[in-house]
Amino acid sequence: MRILSGIQPTGDIHIGNYLGAIKQWLLLQEKNECVFFIADLHSLTVPFDPKILQKSITEKIISYIAVGLDPEKSIIFVQSQIKEHAELAWILNTLCPVGELERMTQYKEKSKKFKDNINAGLLDYPVLMAADILLYKTDAVPVGKDQTQHVELTRTLAKKFNQKFGKTFVEPKAILPKFGSKIMSLTNPKKKMSKTDNPQSYISLFDTPENIQKKIMASTTDSGKQIKYDLTKKPGVSNLLTIYSLLTDKPIKELEKKFKDKGYADLKKSLAKTVIEFLEPFRKKQKELVTRDVYIKEILSRGKNRAQTIAQTTMQEIKEKVGLV
Ligand code: TYM
Repeated sequence: MRILSGIQPTGDIHIGNYLGAIKQWLLLQEKNECVFFIADLHSLTVPFDPKILQKSITEKIISYIAVGLDPEKSIIFVQSQIKEHAELAWILNTLCPVGELERMTQYKEKSKKFKDNINAGLLDYPVLMAADILLYKTDAVPVGKDQTQHVELTRTLAKKFNQKFGKTFVEPKAILPKFGSKIMSLTNPKKKMSKTDNPQSYISLFDTPENIQKKIMASTTDSGKQIKYDLTKKPGVSNLLTIYSLLTDKPIKELEKKFKDKGYADLKKSLAKTVIEFLEPFRKKQKELVTRDVYIKEILSRGKNRAQTIAQTTMQEIKEKVGLV
């Protein structure tokens, strides 16, 4: 199977990204042909600072390697370095009804959040994402729950293209973790954990132990005292239990038993310790990698070449089918 996924470079990669997406990538790269990239073109659709964009992109590549993506096994690259993403997006645009884009949840949320910057790119975002996926004839896309609507649209566009121009694309499917596909914010457990929110609301994969401790101890919990998984009555505690369970591979039931006669502070203390220990190797590796400039450049250059070979071949086929040659 060919697997593809990506992350936007802006903001810190957090444990939501890890548990929803990256954890799956690490397993999938062992037995599949995997393509992982930094979606920098996507990040231009919301306000950003050109002075720090390049730095954020490099940081994210370092993060990919620090958490265990293996450049020997996976193709790792930066989206904007492969011009075929934008080229295919244009062609797919001509197949995509505007109405489909207007009903996308992410578009609705972001146009509310960035009222003064509802640009055409924000609306078109899912078509570029479809191009990312289809360009590599991807079979499956490991993502968190918030991205499933975009993968659905990708399937629709693949089908349309195939019907109009002849069988070209696989209809890719989204792969979601059974549990943890939507990790919630630490400060508002009714909202998704997001890199563009206040840093108190998420745990970055490279936060210091002190920060992790502070953020978890200050996280919003619920009324009552009992430590119980209940999404309606106890969204805060349920979110902490979810993170705990996913990082330790312990079932929720076992954790409920462990904390049966304990209070929220005990759960938080124990979770903070667990998170700190879990993230320690990532932090170490990241520290080492920031000093290895040449190595990172080599990874990117190799990834770019490998991605380009696939992208150019697909684009040539597409152009012939559409009658553009
Ligand atoms: P991005 O950068 O917002 O998030 C990266 C990945 O993390 C997942 N995720 C979460 N999972 C669980 N809980 C959360 N709170 C949480 N927050 C984020 C996301 O679902 C995603 O898998 N549009 C994409 C980037 C992209 C892409 C693509 C992905 C561009 N082209 C092609 C796959 C295929 C995005 O903004 O992800």
